[in-house]
Amino acid sequence: MAAEEGTPDGFGPGKVILLGEHAVVYGHPAVAGPLTLGVSAFTSASRTCSLVAPRGISAKDRALLAQAFEAAAQLCGSPAVRVRLESDLPISVGLGSSAAVGVACARALLKASGRTVAPREVARIALRMEEAFHGTPSGVDHTTSALGALILYRRRVGAAVGNAVPLQCPVPLHVIVALAGKRRSTRETVRGLRERAQRWGSRYARLLREIGQVAREGAAAVTAGDLDALGDAMNVNHGLLSALQLSSATIDEVVHRLRDHGALGAKLTGAGGDGGAVVGLFRDPKPALARLRRTGVPCFSSQLSGPRKT
Ligand code: PMV
Repeated sequence: MAAEEGTPDGFGPGKVILLGEHAVVYGHPAVAGPLTLGVSAFTSASRTCSLVAPRGISAKDRALLAQAFEAAAQLCGSPAVRVRLESDLPISVGLGSSAAVGVACARALLKASGRTVAPREVARIALRMEEAFHGTPSGVDHTTSALGALILYRRRVGAAVGNAVPLQCPVPLHVIVALAGKRRSTRETVRGLRERAQRWGSRYARLLREIGQVAREGAAAVTAGDLDALGDAMNVNHGLLSALQLSSATIDEVVHRLRDHGALGAKLTGAGGDGGAVVGLFRDPKPALARLRRTGVPCFSSQLSGPRKT
């Protein structure tokens, strides 16, 4: 049965990578958590299984989305529903918007076909959509979105799927996400890094391995509630990403602004490259958020783990 128009049938949260982007593509671990912002899918009865593409997306993205949706619909037995998407997540800046689309569609399609909406099944279907969008994603984005929890994620080289270990922080873990302008696609940035990593193999392998080690240490800091240690891991991770030529003057400027406003650690998040999103770790994000907004920096805060105020 399709739900009434206006009632969300599937939600996919966006994600923020605290540690380990790019290295995760090479089989190293990463730490990522879900945002409160995300993509909602609404269904209504229809004769066929179809997707209404959001307004304002390019013809190329529309075609990719249609292809990705078709793959997900087939896995769910193509239930007779029309799916419409709404998003409050900034698109294509490194906050996992395409994975959130996949998770929202997977949840809505599974529900419409009368199947159990289990996180593992949602992740399996969302991965199919991510592959249509990005080629060979590590899987960290859609796994974080499907599980809706802060995780230590790793997909070993050659493995079909990754492994996610939920991380609990005993103290509130707050971040501010700030936007540092437009960027090129994840696919292009990942390809550029691959070319450099093939050319200068052993040096790039060392840096990627070190990012994985920093992610492991950061995960241990999360479970110990040691925010200073987690912040330092994030700062070092940003330095390593810069060494891999994945940062830019625009990104670095926002990273330093977050640090100047009291971040325990700050780094680019997602694919980076020429612009995108930056994440900063804060004990109390409110004063910094207000000051950043006053100076015109687009930003929001999110709690990724730990006890919440009721
Ligand atoms: O698409 P983004 O910006 O959220 O980046 C995803 C993270 C990468 O590690 C760069 C790619 C991947 O497949 O994990």
